[in-house]
Amino acid sequence: MVDTKVTLSGLTLDNPVIPASGTFGYGKEFAEIYDINILGSISFKGTTAEPRLGNPLPRIAECPNGMINSVGLQNPGLKAVCERELVEMAEIYKKPVIANISGFSIEEYVECAKAMDKQPQVGIIEVNVSCPNVHNGGMAYGVLPESAAEVTRAVKAVTSKPVYIKLSPNVTDIVAIAKACEEAGADGLSLINTLLGMRIDINRRKPVIANKMGGFSGPAILPVAVRMVYQVSKAVNIPVIGMGGVSTARDVIEMMMAGASAVQVGTANLVNPYACKEIIEDLPKLMEELGIEKLEDIIGIVE
Ligand code: SIN
Repeated sequence: MVDTKVTLSGLTLDNPVIPASGTFGYGKEFAEIYDINILGSISFKGTTAEPRLGNPLPRIAECPNGMINSVGLQNPGLKAVCERELVEMAEIYKKPVIANISGFSIEEYVECAKAMDKQPQVGIIEVNVSCPNVHNGGMAYGVLPESAAEVTRAVKAVTSKPVYIKLSPNVTDIVAIAKACEEAGADGLSLINTLLGMRIDINRRKPVIANKMGGFSGPAILPVAVRMVYQVSKAVNIPVIGMGGVSTARDVIEMMMAGASAVQVGTANLVNPYACKEIIEDLPKLMEELGIEKLEDIIGIVE
């Protein structure tokens, strides 16, 4: 029997498959159609200090092999997430979860991290410094090594849980930012978030998305994500969670060979709600086919 277990900062996951933040809510809808306890973990929708209604509609644009979203960090806010969503989530999912947090100031990241630090089910805090859909927050902190490091230091100072920084691909040198986060104390990195994109409705002569631009995701971005996971994982000594266009078990293996210790599945959940389940079921068969006994053995195997 093959071994699909992986470890992230001392946390052992039954398998590396984790639904990505913002594509799985808090698991409720998916728990109605399959037992979500098969998942390695869940990264739940990004939390901000205050509730957010998100960006104006339309905020989704279809693309060949992908989609653009400009959700704008819609979420019920820190208090409701801690007092309601996480309580309900604990009833349907029994493993440690990943708390994705966002902010418009260092103080907001700190406030969210402090609250998540107190949540027993949170195993990892994933700090989103890469949302392309809001102004003066999110990605603003993730495009420079100095500001990414500043957020990392501030969050690390208020939590004893492992802190993973979620990086943007919309930068010139993702390796420099990754290294700055590592030096500032990050326990791991998540990459990549979406690529800034745009579509135009040629009949209306206007952008499809009300906010004009948004984050491009889906199978089309897999090669970019694999390249960045490869470059970053070779340059740092902390675990990398790979994501970006993953929709099959083959993609999971590819990400791990590039250097990912675990893998998040995002847009695929929106196309096929059974995507993560199917990947988890396919993984052992594919491992046998490829002669892989222990999944952890292939992490970063590509020179
Ligand atoms: C959003 O809520 O706009 C998407 C989150 C992200 O891309 O980080």
